[in-house]
Amino acid sequence: MKNFKDKVAVITGAGSGIGRALAMNLAASGAKLALSDINEAGLKETANSLNLSEDRLMTKILDVADRQAFYAFADDVVNHFGHANMIFNNAGVALGATVEEMDYDDFEWLMNINFWGVVYGTKAFLPYLKQAGEGHIINISSIFGLVGIPTQSAYNAAKFAVRGFTESLRIELELEGSPVSCTSIHPGGIKTNIAKAARMSDGVERITGASKEQAIQDFEKMFRTTPEEAASTILKGVRGNKRRVLIGSDAIAVDTMQRLLPTSYQRLIAMGQKYMNKSKG
Ligand SMILES: NC(=O)c1ccc[n+]([C@@H]2O[C@H](COP(=O)([O-])OP(=O)(O)OC[C@H]3O[C@@H](n4cnc5c(N)ncnc54)[C@H](O)[C@@H]3O)[C@@H](O)[C@H]2O)c1
Repeated sequence: MKNFKDKVAVITGAGSGIGRALAMNLAASGAKLALSDINEAGLKETANSLNLSEDRLMTKILDVADRQAFYAFADDVVNHFGHANMIFNNAGVALGATVEEMDYDDFEWLMNINFWGVVYGTKAFLPYLKQAGEGHIINISSIFGLVGIPTQSAYNAAKFAVRGFTESLRIELELEGSPVSCTSIHPGGIKTNIAKAARMSDGVERITGASKEQAIQDFEKMFRTTPEEAASTILKGVRGNKRRVLIGSDAIAVDTMQRLLPTSYQRLIAMGQKYMNKSKG
């Protein structure tokens, strides 16, 4: 999709971080916006900062893990605007836990949002995007959809799954000559609220040598790119109909490491973790 003017863009998780920055950028490009989030206050803040009239903006409180509600939202968007052109499956959460100590409740909570939320968004909107004659599905994976990281097995599982799901869909759409395309997005560390809102289990301390609070701070130190830069890179990728978009120099470094050392990168990560644990004393 080369031009966003008057296109209808749907964003999940629009109340913070990358979702909010996407909304601002798309509004400036003349798109009409259907914004959703589970967090009412964050969603309101995004909507208020846009200052758009009702014919250009709708908002909805939506839990992406609720399949029925997601399908109802898709119907609402098309009733409001007449059509939909883009769905940004962006809402996401983080969880730090070792496999051994991870609660099933936490694992399912994350998978329901980070994986099933993306599946529901894709399947609920795909027929409408086709109907519109021009559509794009943008699924937010991560660099953790490219490599495994200790204490991130649930997040890794969801983000690898989003990549596989999106890559398979892309080929299907091409084979049928569809007017819809899709892109898998792999951000490195982005300065957002994701780590603060994360769930953390006690096992994190054993593996990283850091308290839960310290682990969150350590993660945030690695966040280098702003949400605005991330949004701009994502939208450039949509305009260019890219299959995969990497965001930030850290993402490019991780992608290169994975290509050069497809399995032994794991040794490098373990060495790095041991070094960090030692330097903490
Ligand atoms: N920040 C990073 O470093 C980073 C790196 C790679 C990938 N990502 C991915 O980018 C996406 C956006 O995250 P962010 O960094 O902007 O985080 P963020 O926490 O700033 O924003 C995430 C938004 O999702 C919303 N959300 C959470 N659970 C929801 C649910 N069940 N239904 C609907 N909305 C829900 C939150 O309320 C929040 O507004 C996520 O998919 C995340 O996994 C982030």
